[in-house]
Amino acid sequence: MRQTVLAPALDAGNTPNLTDYEEACRTFSWEQAERQFSWSKTQRVNMAHECIDRHVEDGYGHKPALHYIEGAHQRVWTFAELKQETDRWATAFRNEGVKRGDIVFIFLPKNADCYIAMLATVKIGAVAGPLFEAFMEEAVRDRIDDCKGRFLITDPDLAARVPRKDLPSLEKVFVTAGPESCRDNEISWTDILADTFVSGSPTEWVDLDAPLNIHYTSGSTGKPKGIVHAHRAMIHQYQTGHWVLDIKDDDIYWCTAHPGWVTGTVYAIFAPWLNRATIVVNGGRFDADSWYAAIEKAGVTVWYSAPTAFRMLKAAGDELVGRYDLSTLRHVLSVGEPLNPEVIYWGVEQLGLRIHDTWWMTETGAQLIVNLPSEPIKPGSMGRPFPGIDIRILDDDGIEQAPGDIGHLAIRAPWPGLMREVWQNEEKYRSYFQFDGWYLSGDLAYQDADGYVFFQGRSDDMINSSGERIGPFEVESKLLEHGAVAEAGVVGKPDPLRGEIVKAFIVLKPGYQNTPELLQEIRLFVRSQLSAHAAPREIEVLAELPKTKISGKILRRQLKTWNADEEPVINASDSALSTAIPK
Ligand code: PRX
Repeated sequence: MRQTVLAPALDAGNTPNLTDYEEACRTFSWEQAERQFSWSKTQRVNMAHECIDRHVEDGYGHKPALHYIEGAHQRVWTFAELKQETDRWATAFRNEGVKRGDIVFIFLPKNADCYIAMLATVKIGAVAGPLFEAFMEEAVRDRIDDCKGRFLITDPDLAARVPRKDLPSLEKVFVTAGPESCRDNEISWTDILADTFVSGSPTEWVDLDAPLNIHYTSGSTGKPKGIVHAHRAMIHQYQTGHWVLDIKDDDIYWCTAHPGWVTGTVYAIFAPWLNRATIVVNGGRFDADSWYAAIEKAGVTVWYSAPTAFRMLKAAGDELVGRYDLSTLRHVLSVGEPLNPEVIYWGVEQLGLRIHDTWWMTETGAQLIVNLPSEPIKPGSMGRPFPGIDIRILDDDGIEQAPGDIGHLAIRAPWPGLMREVWQNEEKYRSYFQFDGWYLSGDLAYQDADGYVFFQGRSDDMINSSGERIGPFEVESKLLEHGAVAEAGVVGKPDPLRGEIVKAFIVLKPGYQNTPELLQEIRLFVRSQLSAHAAPREIEVLAELPKTKISGKILRRQLKTWNADEEPVINASDSALSTAIPK
């Protein structure tokens, strides 16, 4: 019989930074967290300063800050080296005309350049816009075009996926290579750095509410939206790093996400470095062997990843776990999609550790619902609200639900990590605050009598595949650009490994035959233009798509439960948000 509650393993050598959750809920205030920052005394605010320079000033310059691993290649940078590098890059950006408030898009693989570019941008008060390394032309274009980006830094391979002709706003494209690897209109960053001399600190002091970074994220409608965070998010990110990641001075910390996703920025860069951890960066995408090898090589102690990755490791077999020395691991966390109890039990059996689920969103800027190392875990629950965070489960009218009843997961606003704006889209920003003072997440959940929150799905059509958020509209639009596709409806289909996969229902134009070759061609069309993770893994051809009677909108919800043996209901009535809540 599996245990329904997993108790924390606390011993003398393993005392978490927070030992009493209830006490913290009663007494903690965000003002208390602010005292930790140098600006609470100096009034001089900058995230990059708190992540790197401050540690050098405090005498930790010699401490390893970044351990990069790619196959057999490894390199370590100390905090002092990173200060030097980010000073140089920051000065170079400034010399090239980047000013406070300008967005710098960063389209780089998961390597040290990517991390240095992020912090250098922030250091001069500019706004870091990281892009996921697997994005193809269309995804890159949509994001840069939305905010008329002027600056981009990339590498020679990824530069090929930047559609310059469609992006007239883009003034400068810096390529992290020598001039021989640059195309027309690209600027060699190697040359620029060689000519850059740092005199004095390039740090620009900003306000707590100054824009810090922009993450484009998908919703159920329209193109991805730019979520802008502020420097004040560091308060929330530091505190969750301290209590939830439980970072201590001798920790070697690894978060597996690419900075193009919010987890890869907040919990792979900011939160651990605010807590002065040594971070590990493992180049490349998922590979079970290389991941275990990275833990062994770097001696990882705290590890933050996602359910799909854990499921893939589980599927790779227990024999593989035994081949590596993973004994340094002491704390494991997960985010991004529902963490199945089976995976938690696998963690206990194979790693000897509980996997701590956490819940948050791009818009929330940091973790809001967490499993703390000192607290019992209820497998299947995302945990309880972080101290200082007030959550409620609301019905369609904003009325609080009783324990056990499903409703909209809402959070009392504001909190320090909350987004500052949706890029030039006030209406979208306001749409999150339908009920006065409450941020509506779009997730459905219930809370039990002990305060534990259980995820129950989305109230909209957003797809979550391998923890990556995919907007059906984006994929549908791309499908419609293919010559054979007359109509398209895209939904998430439950999948044991990836949580959900992208499934497309299409109607073919007259004269096209439903053949495996054509469907494969359509799939590759989306993959090559948008990105691999957004390309439908399944495509099904229908004679027509179910639509609403009044507006003629595609009824994705019906497609989601569509079964090949049944006829879809065509022309159902328009559904309100309320129909999304399972009764
Ligand atoms: O539906 C929830 C799901 O991921 C959404 C947020 O996606 P994104 O903005 O890309 O941020 C992901 C990582 C911060 C949420 O609305 N989600 C996130 N964490 C969990 C989750 N679903 C279930 N369990 C979680 N722990």
